Amino acid sequence: MTELRGRFGRPLRLGVIGGGPEAWIGRMHRGAAEMDGWWRPVAGVFSSDAARSRTGGAALGFDPGRSYGGVDEMLRQERLRQDGIDAVTIMTPNDTHYPFAVAALDAGLDVVCDKPVTHDFAQACDLVARTRRGGRIFAVAHGYSAYPMTRYARRLVRDGVLGPVRLVQVEYIQSGMATRVEEGPQNDRLRWILDPRRSGLALVMSAIGCHAQHLASFTSGFAVARVAADVGALVPGRKLIDHVSALLEFDGGARGTFTVTQAAAGGENDIRLRIYGDKGMLDWCHREPSYLRLALQGEAARIIGRGDAFLPPEIIALGRTPRGHPEGLREAFANIYAEVAQDRMARILGESVPELPYPRIEDGAHTMAFIEACIASQASRGWVDVARLPAQ
Ligand SMILES: NC(=O)c1ccc[n+]([C@@H]2O[C@H](COP(=O)([O-])OP(=O)(O)OC[C@H]3O[C@@H](n4cnc5c(N)ncnc54)[C@H](O)[C@@H]3O)[C@@H](O)[C@H]2O)c1
Repeated sequence: MTELRGRFGRPLRLGVIGGGPEAWIGRMHRGAAEMDGWWRPVAGVFSSDAARSRTGGAALGFDPGRSYGGVDEMLRQERLRQDGIDAVTIMTPNDTHYPFAVAALDAGLDVVCDKPVTHDFAQACDLVARTRRGGRIFAVAHGYSAYPMTRYARRLVRDGVLGPVRLVQVEYIQSGMATRVEEGPQNDRLRWILDPRRSGLALVMSAIGCHAQHLASFTSGFAVARVAADVGALVPGRKLIDHVSALLEFDGGARGTFTVTQAAAGGENDIRLRIYGDKGMLDWCHREPSYLRLALQGEAARIIGRGDAFLPPEIIALGRTPRGHPEGLREAFANIYAEVAQDRMARILGESVPELPYPRIEDGAHTMAFIEACIASQASRGWVDVARLPAQ
């Protein structure tokens, strides 16, 4: 794949939206984008306040002349340049993802967007339509699905190693809402997170539930068809949604369980996936993301490690250091950025585009439909079908 980059002749140029100096996910995106030389972050808007955006960009090492005061200004000015941006990456408060993505797509740019892609399913359908109409690329930053070992999990399921999938169990447990943070002092970040008009229909789903659902669907290969969900708060009296547990039925009939909460005292960043087929199971956990446990019925369980020589070359290529050297979320994000770049470069060069599994806007739209179905299930106290993308 590095030959493709060589044939293209330059890194793609990235405009960053959000991720000011205080935002950890901004560092993650920028470092991931340039890790392998596919991208160069060259411009950006780093705050909703124009002056803070300009100083923030300069503080992060961006050209002060390309640290813009707002998104419209960046899109307008970059279009005038010979070396203008090829794409934007969006990591702002959730309510701004949709308008910024629309503006970028309408300006003819590709988009990498953090989750949740939109406020609701209708907006996500609109982004799917705009992306397709414009022939653009729209990727979603679901990093957990881009680890070598979650990619290998998907491969094992696809290759039938587990047999037909019967059960998918996914959970994502954190503790950031275990105390009554809404009653304590608030900063800019907490203010938007604690406001459902800005953070989304269900706080825990916007924050982490979307990752869990995407990982389950991505690795199992199935969209969620129906849910029966318990949506609410573990912390007594809390109005915000800090917990969702759901029974799932996937396309194809497999069943699933789904539990996400940010109100589990002592939790850290515990996302775990187990898939059971009729021949065996696999188990992946973010605490040891470079390893995958595969247990086939009647055989000794195996711990497969990133970089093991027997792995398919395309799985090995998703790692950058030999087995035993820690890699993490930044490298997983870098895999998404690398695939988006390969897709765009191949399209521009008129070459055939390899099958690239990076998360796309269609996946983001399915997640929004899933979130809406969970909320509707809580309201009706029953099973609810997950809406499908309209035929386009
Ligand atoms: N994929 C992941 O694993 C992951 C992890 C953490 C956060 N996120 C997502 O990243 C996004 C940001 O979360 P965060 O925790 O960094 O929030 P944050 O509040 O800490 O940071 C938001 C950043 O965006 C900037 N910003 C705000 N409004 C802006 C605007 N109108 N134009 C340009 N910049 C603006 C702020 O100055 C700040 O630097 C959210 O959508 C969140 O869901 C994703």
